[in-house]
Amino acid sequence: MRVLSGIQPTGRFHWGNYFGAIRQYIDLQHDADEAFYFIANLHALTTVRHGGQLRQLTRDAAIDLVALGLDPDKATLFIQSDVPEVSELCWLLMTGASMGLLERCHAYKDKKARGVSADAGLFAYPVLQAADILAYDSDTVPVGEDQVQHIEVCRDLASGFNHQFGQVFVLPKAKVLAHAARVPGTDGEKMSKSYGNTLEVFEDPKAQRKRIMRVVTDSRPVEEPKDPETDHLYQLYALFAGEPAREAMAATYRRGGFGYGQVKKELADLAEAFFAEARERRRRLEARPERIREILGDGAARARRKAAEVLLRAQQACGVKL
Ligand code: TYM
Repeated sequence: MRVLSGIQPTGRFHWGNYFGAIRQYIDLQHDADEAFYFIANLHALTTVRHGGQLRQLTRDAAIDLVALGLDPDKATLFIQSDVPEVSELCWLLMTGASMGLLERCHAYKDKKARGVSADAGLFAYPVLQAADILAYDSDTVPVGEDQVQHIEVCRDLASGFNHQFGQVFVLPKAKVLAHAARVPGTDGEKMSKSYGNTLEVFEDPKAQRKRIMRVVTDSRPVEEPKDPETDHLYQLYALFAGEPAREAMAATYRRGGFGYGQVKKELADLAEAFFAEARERRRRLEARPERIREILGDGAARARRKAAEVLLRAQQACGVKL
């Protein structure tokens, strides 16, 4: 199994990123033959339009990932733009990507629907993502549910290329953890930086507790029994609670007679304890910028070796290498 995934440094990581993706990265680094994880700064450039901010968020992302348990001896961690081969591969794929396919992709479609003017970068976003995946012969891509469409586009582009030029690319599969496929935000919608409803992994615990207390809930009376499965506060609680606590809370919901405030307090306690160790590791890592530079340098070198090999194969097949 060759695992690959990317994450955009568009803001500090939130619970959706962690449970939907990062936790799987960490688990899979032990099982995979090879695991490549990168910080998708070229993709982030479609939304973060300030050089200093993008640089800072990229550094923070690297520190966060290592603090959360990504082990640079087991997995290759690098920055997307440090592998220029991917951008070259992106062009080769772009020539076979139909406008119709890209017009159907949700990131572009959603932005257009909201009346925000889209640029060519956003339109071609899934093609760059396909190049990211194909450049390392990856077969398994751990992601949240929102990325499944992009993996399908990647498969389409790869099989189109293979069909025209011969067997060049490995077709990847998305790997989505069922119970963390779509982590809700403080308003019950999908947790997302662009909706302003996130709870961040490394937010100051006091500030976070306040934000948790403000999670939107319905106004049904305390006595009324409630269905835990459709309640976003319960879904957030279930991410952190172990099996027995989860079951007990679900039973409390079904019985009724409890207050949402109590659930919120318990959730805040669980979240603080859950990330306490990582928070401490992060504090220590932050004081060692040279170590982070070294990890990213080694990662980029390893990633480039593999990407150069795949790019050459693609260039030879389509005739742009003499
Ligand atoms: P990004 O940065 O938006 O999100 C990173 C990962 O977090 C997951 N995620 C969620 N999962 C569950 N619930 C949520 N509320 C939630 N919010 C985010 C995402 O599904 C994702 O797995 N296009 C990618 C970055 C990328 C990439 C790639 C991924 C670039 N190239 C190649 C895989 C392979 C993205 O926007 O992720």
